[in-house]
Amino acid sequence: MFYPDEIIEEVRSRNDIVDVVSGYVKLQKKGGNHWACCPFHNEDTPSFSVNGNKQMFHCFGCGVSGNVYTFVMRYENFTFPEAVKMLAERAGVKLPEIEYTEEQKQKASRKARLMEVNKEAAKFFYYQLRSPRGTIGMQYLQKRQLTDETMKRFGLGYSGKTGMDLITYLRQKGFEDDLIKEAGLGVISERSGLMSQFWNRVMFPIQDINGKVIGFGGRVMGDGEPKYLNSPETPVFDKRRNLFGMNFARTARTGNIILCEGYMDVISMHQAGFTQAVASLGTAFTAEQANLLRRYTDNVLLAYDSDGAGVKAALRGIGILREAGLTGKVINMRPYKDPDEFMKALGKEAFQERIDQAENSFFFELRILQEQFDMKDPESKTKFHREIAKKLCTFREEVERDNYLQAAAEKYFIGVDNLRKLVLSYAAQTGDAKPVERPRTTGGQRNPAQEKAAKAQKILLTWITDDPKIYPKIKKYITVSDFTDETVQAVASRLFTDLDEGKFNPASIISTFEDEEQQRAAAEVFQTQLPQLSTKQEREKAFHDILLAVKKNSYEYFSARLGSDVNALTQALAGKKALETLAKTHISLD
Ligand code: GTP
Ligand code: MN
Repeated sequence: MFYPDEIIEEVRSRNDIVDVVSGYVKLQKKGGNHWACCPFHNEDTPSFSVNGNKQMFHCFGCGVSGNVYTFVMRYENFTFPEAVKMLAERAGVKLPEIEYTEEQKQKASRKARLMEVNKEAAKFFYYQLRSPRGTIGMQYLQKRQLTDETMKRFGLGYSGKTGMDLITYLRQKGFEDDLIKEAGLGVISERSGLMSQFWNRVMFPIQDINGKVIGFGGRVMGDGEPKYLNSPETPVFDKRRNLFGMNFARTARTGNIILCEGYMDVISMHQAGFTQAVASLGTAFTAEQANLLRRYTDNVLLAYDSDGAGVKAALRGIGILREAGLTGKVINMRPYKDPDEFMKALGKEAFQERIDQAENSFFFELRILQEQFDMKDPESKTKFHREIAKKLCTFREEVERDNYLQAAAEKYFIGVDNLRKLVLSYAAQTGDAKPVERPRTTGGQRNPAQEKAAKAQKILLTWITDDPKIYPKIKKYITVSDFTDETVQAVASRLFTDLDEGKFNPASIISTFEDEEQQRAAAEVFQTQLPQLSTKQEREKAFHDILLAVKKNSYEYFSARLGSDVNALTQALAGKKALETLAKTHISLD
């Protein structure tokens, strides 16, 4: 953490969330909450709420939530330290000078230098493009129908005909040769020493989510090879974790993100108003990028090329999205090759129609799969049906699987019962319908049972923060170790310590987490949807059920670890006893 916890907390507590949010959106008080149309997604009826007691916000439409820090980070695209700085100023709190270790300083300053040299290079390319020397680049971009405004927005540039100008410029600005090399801007040639990596290319600066230049893609003029030359990976340029256009797409608030293959696709989409378009960085789409997308949406539309390679990449992308728990849909670009060509030919209204008609990724997969089979041949057709069954087995949730099963049966004229039999037989052969394993998130590997357990744990914590006077009543039945989910446990531990000391401010707990991903996960813990029940009796029953579910999971969790965890026996025995007492105890919610 950059500042001591006490300072973070002081700044937070001196910035009332209702006041701060009011500065950005018009809030209306209704009941205990303040409401507005969500600034983070498009909507007509307010589902964005700010709770002054909890000092937190939550949108029931798109699910974002957090405290005052999270809010300004999202709204202003600030990093955490930037948010602290801004709110400290707002409340007149003086921040201490940050103390780093020598090593941290060096590493941070090296990275900072790499960012600086990238920024300076971007400036150089930018001015080259707009100078007489850049005419060829300018003509190229104009031919591709980019407006001046678009070129400016994306900071497009031109790298010049000779390999020396950039190097000379950067040296003049005080950058050392090894830094220029480490940033991937220069290469050593035997004949002339350090030379620019890029020359005679139009330059696409690649920005991180905060808009800082971390690398470049350069497109050749005409037909040379390689068509696109990208900066190599550097300490600031991680191709697996960044997406071109994400700095703009993160605030597009369209409820979806469009994933394209190329930089030019992204740019022409943005120019047409689809500012939610992003692309991977000259490499295949990765699980890390899917996780990045998940921070902003769970609805990703693929706008990949319509040729064979594009379809293959789309199939791969769908798999990665699915593993990250995202819904993927595929936009049909035919008869055009890519979004850039489509946009030029048919325009944005037609593209919006294609967005609305995007095909569910499961049916896209089936359609592509079907092409391999001869549907007139009974044997081949059966094989295809088996493949459908096999795919259906990958859905982890029964309801979801069954919905898809019915839809697939209808679409391919298979009897529902027959298809169900096929699924069962396939599942039996391979040992049940296998749930898809999600990649590691903050909570580690999860399976459906763990998801369910974590959900119950979150509901319990949300319930306690909504109504903290329950805590003393249940304290003796529940311990921090009952929260078997890593993040939930960390939150519970901080919350219970506070409550034991007679303190209550869940919003402060969020900012005690180190990174943004954890803060987000922690905020979610407090914002789980509670069952909407009207009578006290129903609520008490629901609460009792949740408590039991958490306790039961914890008991099972520790029982399963009897051999491997020294504390497991104690935990399991205590858990069993608490479960028995709890089953007989009535907990009043008065
Ligand atoms: P234009 O011809 O400029 O319209 O290209 P495009 O946007 O249609 O790109 P294309 O479909 O050819 O490639 C998609 C993306 O793949 C590009 O934006 C680059 O990121 C990457 N790419 C294309 N060609 C190369 C190459 O030769 N080398 C590398 N490393 N990446 C490439
Ligand atoms: Mn293209």
